[in-house]
Formats: sequence, C-alpha cells, structure tokens
Amino acid sequence: MNILLLGSGGREHALAWKIAQSPKVDHLYIAPGNAGTGTVGENVALKADDFEGIGQFCLEHDIRMVVVGPEDPLVKGVYDFFKNDARLRNIPVIGPSKQGAVLEGSKDFAKAFMQRHGIPTAAYRTFTQETLDEGLQFLETLKAPYVLKADGLCAGKGVLILPTLEEARKELKEMLGGMFGTASASVVIEEFLSGIECSVFVLTDGKHYKILPEAKDYKRIGEHDTGLNTGGMGSVSPVPFATKEWMKKVEDRIIRPTVEGLAEEHIDYKGFIFFGLIDVEGDPMVIEYNVRMGDPETETVMLRIKSDLVDLLEGVAQGDLDQRRLETDERSAVCVMLVSGGYPEAYEKGFPITGIDQVENSIVFHAGTALKDGQVVTAGGRVIAVSSYGKDKEEALRQSFSQAQKIQFEKKYFRSDIGQDL
Ligand code: AMP
Ligand code: GLY
Repeated sequence: MNILLLGSGGREHALAWKIAQSPKVDHLYIAPGNAGTGTVGENVALKADDFEGIGQFCLEHDIRMVVVGPEDPLVKGVYDFFKNDARLRNIPVIGPSKQGAVLEGSKDFAKAFMQRHGIPTAAYRTFTQETLDEGLQFLETLKAPYVLKADGLCAGKGVLILPTLEEARKELKEMLGGMFGTASASVVIEEFLSGIECSVFVLTDGKHYKILPEAKDYKRIGEHDTGLNTGGMGSVSPVPFATKEWMKKVEDRIIRPTVEGLAEEHIDYKGFIFFGLIDVEGDPMVIEYNVRMGDPETETVMLRIKSDLVDLLEGVAQGDLDQRRLETDERSAVCVMLVSGGYPEAYEKGFPITGIDQVENSIVFHAGTALKDGQVVTAGGRVIAVSSYGKDKEEALRQSFSQAQKIQFEKKYFRSDIGQDL
C-alpha cells in the first residue's frame, strides 16, 4: 500500500525509516519531509496543514493510510477533514480527531479530563483575565516554585516555572495580558511536582492499546539540565526506573483510565498518545498529554520496535490492535541531537553538513536539514539526531558520541551528558 506521512522533523525521519522497512509498503511519501526523509521515501512539497492539497494528493496517488507526525495538523482537524469528505473517508488517518487533539491543544481540557477520570496529576486551577484577582490570590496559597501554563499551543514555550511569588504574579499578569496571544488567554496554575520525568507512548485504536517502549528526553540546552528549554537534546530507551512494577502503575492508573475515558466521552481517538510522566516518590503522575509521538524520543523508540509498525498502524485503523504483535528489542537505544550554535535562541541556518556518509553502525535521523544545490545544509535549530543501539545505554552512548564527532557543520553543539542522570 501507499502511505503518506505528514511532518518534517527528526521524529518524522524516524517514523519514515521504520515504516519504509515494512513489506506492506509500496510507496512512502512524506509531506513536506526533509533531506533525510527523502532518502527513505519521496518528499512531497505540501505543508502538513494544507488539508485540501493533502486530500487531493491522496486521491491522485492511491494513498491507503495517512500517518500524522506533529500535533498541529491534528489540532487543526486533519482527521475530521478526511472523515467529512466522501472521497477521503475510507483513507485512515493515524491520529486523533480534533476533539481528541484537545488533550494536547488545551491544558485546561487535559487537566479537567484527568480529574474526571481520577488520573493522578498536579492539583490546579485555571484563570482568565476576568478572574486575574482570584488567580493572584490562588498563587498565595501555593508554595514556590510556581508553575504557570498557557492553556493553548505555544510551540513548547508556554510553561513557566518561577522561583518567587513576585515573579509568578508578574508573569501571570503578562500571560493573561497576551504574552502568548490567544494561547495564554487562559492560564493553568498548578502545584509543582518534584521528580524525574519519563515519556510513555501508547498506540490505541480507541478500544485496545499497545504500550510502546518508554524513553527519557533531555530538554535543557546545557549539560546537567541547565539553561533554556529546547525541543529535546537527546533521548534514552529503556528508562531504568520504569521497572515492571512502575509500568504496571502507569498502565492501571493512567493508560487504561485514559483510553477508557476517551471512549466513555465518545472522543474518536485512533493514534499515538504520549504521556509525559513524572515519578513522585515511586508514583507516576501526568505532567502533560501529547497526541503524537515525542521528538527526540521517536528517534530511540522506533529502534526498539522489532515488529512491523505498519501492521500495528493497520490494527489502529481497523480496530483490531489486540490481534497485532508488538515485539520490542531488548537492547538499549539512545539518540544525541546535534544542534545549531545559539539554539534555542537566534541561530544561523544554511551551513553545509559533512561527514554523514562516514557514520558507521549508527542511524542518522535528519531533524532540521534541507538540500541546497545537492548539498545537505542546516535548516533548523535541531539539525541531526545520531541514534545507536548498545547492549546497555553506556555502550549505545559511546557509539553515538563517537559518530557525532564525524558529522561537521559550523557552530555544531550537542550535550555530552545524555543519559548520565539515570
Ligand atoms: P509541559 O509543556 O506541560 O510538558 O511542561 C514543560 C516542562 O515543565 C515539563 O516537561 C516539566 O519539566 C515541567 N513541568 C510542567 N509541569 C510541572 C509541574 N507541575 N511540576 C514540575 N515541573 C513541571
Ligand atoms: N520531547 C518532548 C516532546 O516531543 O514534546
């Protein structure tokens, strides 16, 4: 069958790499893709939120499945667009309906959903400009540090953690005053949770689910988790503290109630669910839901799925996921992200990248690259993920770091402490 994958980052290259290995695939297209996805499939010059263009392309190229990488097209309703068009209705879209995508698109909705279904998460309240005074009073009842979250999507920048009450008061006023536009017209204030984080991924057909390998992501730009937040500087799978016992708590307290809650509320959800979890003294709690795979977690999770991903995705589309096999690789997988100097603040693009062809025994996933006159050049903050297997994470990390040295571009930076905290 022919498959169309939407998106253009490292996550999409990793998904494309895995999908392309399936004997069920005749032709894989990626819209818009990057220089890396173009090596495992065919890039299509369509934006991931150009639904009309994507629909037309699917009809012209006999596409039998659309896999959605990023959240943006989901939040904008790509699933519903297909369902509501008689010509496209029979092409399954892997990803939730617009209503399901609100789990990521609105922090307030996600918190209320968790409360309705008894899913462990930080205590919270939501405020708007009209209830600013109550918000300021609520802050007084909390202890430092203070966690403020813009309700809507802010490209990962909408969460502020503030050390003092004074700063929290100031930022709350600014957020509600339009700091993130309409995304911060509502602000969730929640209790600060202290613990180590872990990303858990599930594929669901709306009824059944399969738990994919978990991963840990490294969000800060600086070594030992210092400096600004980024999209993610590396990842490790498996995560040592995600033991069988811990994962059973995750399944019983979080995954099952979420999938059942979605069904109970008649929310159409056939796709990936990403549980951003934190371990609070042995008990998992939800920090956030995302309605897609994580990036750069996908760059390790895909390495650890032995089974045919397309077979699992067919199970999602057909509602018989329980009949499909998910076999995982016992080895460790890690990914080290090479980024543009300056990221996550201003950085330059367009630098030639050399040495990718020298890499041995690692898998290079392109995150922000483009082809310019036949040369691969930097085209984003996160540029390349170097993913490797190892018998343990130390071996996998040694391998990724050794290969990361071979790839060169001006102002290249990476964190050399990935996985050290575990
Ligand atoms: P989010 O976008 O909701 O994932 O938040 C971004 C990051 O902020 C998370 O990955 C956590 O590191 C941190 N964070 C969010 N909520 C909390 C919380 N309630 N307590 C502690 N840290 C948090
Ligand atoms: N790695 C975190 C995310 O994809 O949101």
